[in-house]
Amino acid sequence: MPHTVGIGIIGMGWIGTVHSRCYRQVSDRYRDLGIQARMVICADEVKNRAQEAQERFGFEHWSTDWEDVISNADVEAISIASPNFLHIDMIRSAAKAGKHIFCEKPVGMNPLQTAEIESIAREAGVISWVGYNYRWAPVVQYARKLVQEGKIGDITHYRGRFLVGYGRDPNGILSWRFQREFSGSGALGDLISHVVDMAHSMAGSIQSVTSTSETFITQRPIATKGTGDHFSTGSAESPKGDVTNEDYVGALVHFSNGARGSFEACRVIKGPGCEMAFELNGTKGALKWNFERMNELQVHFPDGSDEHDGTTLIQSSPKHPSYVQFQTGPAISMSYDDLKLIEATEFLKSIVSEKQGEPGFKEALAVAEVQEAMKKSWESRKWEEVVSLRKS
Ligand SMILES: NC(=O)c1ccc[n+]([C@@H]2O[C@H](COP(=O)([O-])OP(=O)(O)OC[C@H]3O[C@@H](n4cnc5c(N)ncnc54)[C@H](O)[C@@H]3O)[C@@H](O)[C@H]2O)c1
Repeated sequence: MPHTVGIGIIGMGWIGTVHSRCYRQVSDRYRDLGIQARMVICADEVKNRAQEAQERFGFEHWSTDWEDVISNADVEAISIASPNFLHIDMIRSAAKAGKHIFCEKPVGMNPLQTAEIESIAREAGVISWVGYNYRWAPVVQYARKLVQEGKIGDITHYRGRFLVGYGRDPNGILSWRFQREFSGSGALGDLISHVVDMAHSMAGSIQSVTSTSETFITQRPIATKGTGDHFSTGSAESPKGDVTNEDYVGALVHFSNGARGSFEACRVIKGPGCEMAFELNGTKGALKWNFERMNELQVHFPDGSDEHDGTTLIQSSPKHPSYVQFQTGPAISMSYDDLKLIEATEFLKSIVSEKQGEPGFKEALAVAEVQEAMKKSWESRKWEEVVSLRKS
């Protein structure tokens, strides 16, 4: 008999539909685990989104009231896929009801909310999970293993970036992401969260940062509530509203192990489409990965022979973690949704085994502490120490 986990999802926009699609596939892709997601209820304040999601993904119920997801007795685990300003109230309510919680990054609107959220879930003793999906690419998992096994030597340099163009059109609508009131920070929460989590998992904790931010596009066409997504556009003639958070964040970074690094994220850049990438150099070798070619890892292991000194391209294969569930032969490309499916599976495994895995809210808090130091540096224009925000 499979172990069935009742699922409720709040927010049926872009990522809520991805979560729904992925939970449904866990029992197929990971047959050996014997875990089955039961699609109990979905909610969205926009009625037709909730209704349509029920039909598309086979939920037993739908609602326009997110509290219905939390109060449903058949729901054991909840995905929170709503705009950031709603995360904390939903998590408080879900934790009180003893539900396990998968919250999308950035986990709240700001670092202090992330700290509050971490404490709420810890006190309630529920399993928490976060959508740092880029960790799960098979060659990224392999890269982490190489670092942990000491194959790269001592890490000396780390460069992380997330350069995307979803906001590069000035007529792109003023969705919730561009408004501090609904999103909190901009590129810091939306993009740097992934960059810092990846840096933590590859190169370890961060001691201090100096950072800068900028908003390049300061006004956008006002969005019509309940329609469109953050790729939707208005016209040059549409009434405009102010963008109230940052498009760009850059930082210099000192890691606790002595490595030096830099981070950069931008949501309005021309050129890169979804360049979530890292480069890591150590005393024995180097690694390079870019999500735009997520099935490829470049490794550099100098062997002292100058004639063929250079990088080697490694393609995802059944030898790498989480690959065989998707493809049986090497170099058959996987996709973004596959990473979300691996992530959903790891969350359900954590619930079934009753063992908190990674990344949970503890890892989100570690990210938030770095974000808080970056924000301080925007004001002070100085290096800032990363300090604990953990509530006792
Ligand atoms: N991990 C990733 O790669 C990734 C990618 C995209 C989004 N996200 C995160 O997921 C979250 C949602 O982002 P999105 O792009 O899916 O946004 P979205 O705007 O596409 O979807 C959000 C949905 O929430 C609904 N909603 C708003 N208020 C609600 C309420 N009170 N009750 C119920 N539903 C409500 C909206 O109607 C909308 O359908 C954000 O925190 C975002 O940062 C993560």
